[in-house]
Amino acid sequence: MSQTNSEILRAEDLHTYYGKSHILQGVSLTVGEGELVTVLGRNGAGKTTTLRTLMGLTPARHGTINLFDRDITRWPPHKIAKLGVGYVPEGRKIFGHLTVHDNLRVPAARPGTWTLNTIYDLFPRLAERRSSKGANLSGGEQEMLAIARALLLNPKFLMLDEPSQGLAPVIVDEVMHTIRQMRDEGIAVLLIEQNAWLALGSADRAYVLGDGRIVDSDSAAAFLENKERVKALAGASLDPAGTQ
Ligand SMILES: Nc1ncnc2c1ncn2[C@@H]1O[C@H](COP(=O)(O)OP(=O)(O)O)[C@@H](O)[C@H]1O
Ligand SMILES: [Mg+2]
Repeated sequence: MSQTNSEILRAEDLHTYYGKSHILQGVSLTVGEGELVTVLGRNGAGKTTTLRTLMGLTPARHGTINLFDRDITRWPPHKIAKLGVGYVPEGRKIFGHLTVHDNLRVPAARPGTWTLNTIYDLFPRLAERRSSKGANLSGGEQEMLAIARALLLNPKFLMLDEPSQGLAPVIVDEVMHTIRQMRDEGIAVLLIEQNAWLALGSADRAYVLGDGRIVDSDSAAAFLENKERVKALAGASLDPAGTQ
């Protein structure tokens, strides 16, 4: 648990709608400083909606969000990003018609450790492919590019939506390694995953989302001791073959 860490994010009783569909039905969660927290749940549970709500893209109708000791509940996404929040959306959303290099010049970079040079050091593959169009990259390279773009904001808090989706296991390992590296450098991470086994292997704590509600939460270690617990509650994927 995060008793020794101070909280950077506290979301309380979030209710989010798409039109009349009541999707998030009272989601509450916290992220501590330097913590890697995962939100698990099967397809359609509301994981993406949770991240979109936290990022201000699909604002909650009820509930509050505190980030870095500020009430950001009704803030627009660009203002939340400026506080130092990186967001890697589902499906990567890189610019296919732009080169790797131009994709990396898009964000309004905040000053800090992460610059084009340090990014290319971290991802040599991106450096090699700097003149290639985004659309011509492999799935793994596109995910690295999406993460690299978020890192250029020098975020204090990084949210990732299913970064493992559609990637070969060996590439997934690389992506997860990068995410742990971010956490080890002091960036708090909120990781959305359908593959519970994969996420629990790297996370400090986990929440399980089912039909728009948090139905379970504990340390990742406690979940790993009883895999049936996650499976039963969320129907989340627990496929060890897809991980190591
Ligand atoms: N733009 C949208 N309009 C209407 N319903 C949506 C929209 N996006 C998602 N939903 C619905 O909200 C629920 C939660 O979706 P989502 O947050 O994407 O789940 P997850 O990321 O866990 O798969 C699903 O039932 C989905 O069909
Ligand atoms: Mg999703």
